[in-house]
Amino acid sequence: MSSDRLSVEVGGIRLANPVICGAGEHLIEPSGVRAAIEAGAGAVVVKSANESEAARRQLAHTDYALLDSSWRHLPWDFDPPADASLLNRSGLYPGSFDGWLAMTAELVADNGPSVIIPSIIPADYDRAAELCTQVVDTTGCAVIELNTGAPHGREASAGTIALETGADRLRNLVAEVRRSVTVPLWVKLTGQTDDVVALAEAASEAGADAVTLMGRFMAMLPDVETQAPVLGTAGAFGGPWALPLTCRWLALARERLGPDTSLVATNGARTGLDVARFLLAGARAVQMTSAVFTGGFGTIGATIDELDRYLVEHDDTAEEIVGRAADRLERYTDQPVDPDRWHQFVPPEARPSEAGREGSE
Ligand SMILES: Cc1cc2nc3c(=O)[nH]c(=O)nc-3n(C[C@H](O)[C@H](O)[C@H](O)COP(=O)(O)O)c2cc1C
Repeated sequence: MSSDRLSVEVGGIRLANPVICGAGEHLIEPSGVRAAIEAGAGAVVVKSANESEAARRQLAHTDYALLDSSWRHLPWDFDPPADASLLNRSGLYPGSFDGWLAMTAELVADNGPSVIIPSIIPADYDRAAELCTQVVDTTGCAVIELNTGAPHGREASAGTIALETGADRLRNLVAEVRRSVTVPLWVKLTGQTDDVVALAEAASEAGADAVTLMGRFMAMLPDVETQAPVLGTAGAFGGPWALPLTCRWLALARERLGPDTSLVATNGARTGLDVARFLLAGARAVQMTSAVFTGGFGTIGATIDELDRYLVEHDDTAEEIVGRAADRLERYTDQPVDPDRWHQFVPPEARPSEAGREGSE
């Protein structure tokens, strides 16, 4: 497999391929991180941490439900069907912050600085810069991600997990962290806002080297048998259906920020073709989490193989296809005018009769 074909430059680092194993419970233990690297991931984002005791305790409240597209529960057998969606509660790294730092430092030393991406989800914004500096100084990482869009933010104890929807607050936070951190800074954003582009712009203007979009949505699913919410609570919700939603924001962010701003996709990738879709929408790399968490680490190799086959078939490289579909995105008003076009899409009974149409002309 040609490394030139898959290799990408993103947010100040070069990756062997654009498939990043995104942070989740399968990356709490070093063995999970190593399994992701052995499976060929271009990089691995380790399970996020912060200094808050309450955020740490949050992981003890987790639960997970895998559902098909008719909302039927699926078995947790690491072989999910293509339409599986995941509803879950989650928390942060359950051990001490010092323990997380030591583990991350060891992983960086063993695997190389650009492959292991530590992730901080800030609790107290006033301490975010200090915390990130500590991570960089202690672990020797070549890049750090600041996740400001964890979907559980509003369900977790107040002030323990950031879910930032304000562009000005985000700009201040990122600028503060940027001033103190010496390595490339990636900023992960929430999708739970009506203007993800405004957040991407704020993060980028404040000095983020890459912007990752976008975090999952919060959802509540009634179970028709028990007539209670699945899992008993709301939860973060993701599935393959999220991919086009993320793609749209990627394309709009690329349009606003220009092709030189590194965008990283997350939320919806399940296959190698999905990674291609995210690259075409403007991402330079893709964080894939639920597919690996629910399907096992073999998903990573299968994804990279499928992406590579796609690139060979199209005689392209990963770098070359970045933004290709985004740059062809048109507006409604650019489309050809055809007043009768809708007729064929409505049920036959609802179509205008020939006579009626002639009469109205
Ligand atoms: C169980 C679970 C735990 C997660 N934990 C983290 C985390 O600690 N830090 C983080 O930045 N994102 C976390 N995420 C979010 C994912 O990294 C990813 O952005 C999101 O699930 C959307 O991508 P996907 O469709 O590939 O799952 C978690 C997601 C899941 C499903």
